[in-house]
Amino acid sequence: MAPKRLVSFLAVAAALATTCHGWGGGAGDVVSSSAAALSFVDRLRQMMIPAAVGDGDYCDSWRVGVEANNVRGWTATPRKCDNYVENYMRGHHYRRDSKVVVDEAAAYAEAAVLSGDPAADANATWVFDVDETALSHVKFYKNHGFGYHRTDEPAFMEWLIAGRASALPNTVTLYKKLLLLGVKIVFLSDRPDTPELRNATATNLIKEGFDCWDELILRSENSTATGSVVEYKSGERKKLEEEKGMVIIGNIGDQWSDLLGSPEGRRTFKLPNPAYYIDNYKRAGAAVAITASSSSSSS
Ligand SMILES: *[C@@H]1O[C@H](CO)[C@@H](O)[C@H](O)[C@H]1NC(C)=O
Ligand SMILES: *[C@@H]1O[C@H](CO)[C@@H](O)[C@H](O)[C@H]1NC(C)=O
Ligand SMILES: *[C@@H]1O[C@H](CO)[C@@H](O)[C@H](O)[C@H]1NC(C)=O
Repeated sequence: MAPKRLVSFLAVAAALATTCHGWGGGAGDVVSSSAAALSFVDRLRQMMIPAAVGDGDYCDSWRVGVEANNVRGWTATPRKCDNYVENYMRGHHYRRDSKVVVDEAAAYAEAAVLSGDPAADANATWVFDVDETALSHVKFYKNHGFGYHRTDEPAFMEWLIAGRASALPNTVTLYKKLLLLGVKIVFLSDRPDTPELRNATATNLIKEGFDCWDELILRSENSTATGSVVEYKSGERKKLEEEKGMVIIGNIGDQWSDLLGSPEGRRTFKLPNPAYYIDNYKRAGAAVAITASSSSSSS
């Protein structure tokens, strides 16, 4: 890297640091380690319950179908994959799969920034989804089922407001790397934009180590009333590019609805999530809509 570029990265990084929403610090803050290691119980589960038990082979294939966007529009995981999904999410497999995605993303980002593409230089931007991308709700699902059991909407909302979700450890690694590269950070979520939830979302992100961003976009009532998740998210990305001059070099999410719709971003990265599917629902809180519809269909 030419010294001039290095200087400009440092300048950008310094400029960014001033926009940090830190609790007494910048990007170098210690990351909460709540998600960093498997709990004792989960380590025990991994030893006692092999990944493929019973219908494990089928569920393995079903999960690949989901991740490749071949299996769509499901409202609940297949009943026989209930244990499989729980085991997957609580154990090493989910972390390992996520790490492959994030390692690819980090290598790509580094190459993209260092290639010196002038269009991407100062305005290079990365879009992160929030739920099951930056923050994990595995702790919530431990008490409310992993995709099969009924999940009530108020309980999930309460959980979000409480702001106790843990960082997905691999995503924090990618995030820190992007900050060092001087890439702008945007969090784009389908969470409804209420003052309470905005505060809870920001507080939770900061607490888990995501303490700097250029934009935290939640879904306003207006965009909730019309349009699908894909329309909402791609519309917001379009505004970032057209109104703010950002160049979205990367976009990462756990749902296909995070990644589809122009402009998608120069590259997209799909994190695993076999626990729920967010479709082109007509309103915000689609995870909530799904759980509500799956509970009504199972009652
Ligand atoms: C959340 O609200 C509290 C109380 O009003 C305030 O002190 C805090 O700074 C807010 N946090 C964020 C991240 O906006
Ligand atoms: C929502 O839409 C209405 C009608 O178009 C408009 O008056 C209002 O300002 C909008 N609110 C926001 C938050 O954009
Ligand atoms: C970054 O965006 C701003 C605002 O649109 C624009 O003026 C500037 O030329 C852009 N920088 C680069 C390097 O493209």
